[in-house]
Amino acid sequence: MAVVRLGILTGGGDCPGLNAVIRAVVRKGIDGHGDEIVGFRDGWRGILEDVHEALTIESVRGILPRGGTILGSSRTNVFKREDGVEHVRRTFERSELDGLIAIGGEDTLGAAHRLNEQGLHVIGVPKTIDNDLSATDVTFGFDTAVHVATEAIDRLHTTAESHHRNLVVEVMGRHAGWIALHSGIAGGADVILIPEIPFDIEEVCALINRRHARGRYFAIIVAAEGALPKEGTLSVTTGDLDEFGHPRLGGIGPLLEREIGHRTGFETRATVLGHVQRGGTPTAFDRVLATRLGLAAVDAAHAGQWGKMVSLRGTQIELVALADAVAELHTVPIAEYERYGVLFG
Ligand code: F6P
Repeated sequence: MAVVRLGILTGGGDCPGLNAVIRAVVRKGIDGHGDEIVGFRDGWRGILEDVHEALTIESVRGILPRGGTILGSSRTNVFKREDGVEHVRRTFERSELDGLIAIGGEDTLGAAHRLNEQGLHVIGVPKTIDNDLSATDVTFGFDTAVHVATEAIDRLHTTAESHHRNLVVEVMGRHAGWIALHSGIAGGADVILIPEIPFDIEEVCALINRRHARGRYFAIIVAAEGALPKEGTLSVTTGDLDEFGHPRLGGIGPLLEREIGHRTGFETRATVLGHVQRGGTPTAFDRVLATRLGLAAVDAAHAGQWGKMVSLRGTQIELVALADAVAELHTVPIAEYERYGVLFG
């Protein structure tokens, strides 16, 4: 299929590697096929309001190692806006788009899937530091976030040991504990708390007390921001909802600081890593994966594979149905978590 005008957008929380996808799409589209590539600003907002710019080989020079996204991003939900789908359709027509490449996580790709069902030509590219998308083995951004969190844990380790303190590290991961699990294992954490398994604060404290009894007077506790205490034990506060209905998180670290300090009697402090995990340059792994996905997305468009997502399966890039990618979240299997149990405490 001779695609001549292809739109591209980045939606949801940004992550390292987005610019590598954009660059690959532009290089392959323009130099490989003679296409025109149109970049829409700030995710679905750019499509709804038709805010776009032509992307050229020149405009994507030097962006491969840059974090963030040159297109900007937002958590705009097309389906929460009045006549949202009609606005999108009009932009497609006005910009004479043959198709759109939407780079995003569960929310952005969920919207892409629904728009595709309504006859609009969309191809998805999976991204998220949380690594919680189904139908792909891994998402780019995850490797970088794990590196950032692991480096932070290594640094916290040395100061925890010097001051005989417990240090709680709150990492991102709203519904899935992949970042907490991988950075916690890589950093040798004593306790890892993930959203998939509600935790018992008494068991957490027992692990820390056992460590003290064995002569180690500090502990590292890694908690995903979405980790929750067992029902009826402690209460966690959350903030406002975004357009996709997700609450703003970021309270589990300080809560654990208070509870562990109070219950064990050992000095405990919390560090909330927050958006540091999403910023900065992508790892080599994420740059290569993002580049491969971008190249494959253009091929998919030329093959008329609308409604598909490019995905990493084993070592190969494959096409999967967008519907499969957004059907359910890819969370940490309990058996996978339990495998590491002997390393805790
Ligand atoms: O979905 C990716 C993510 O980084 C989550 O881990 C986190 O809960 C959320 O984004 C934070 O979003 P915001 O940038 O809106 O604070």
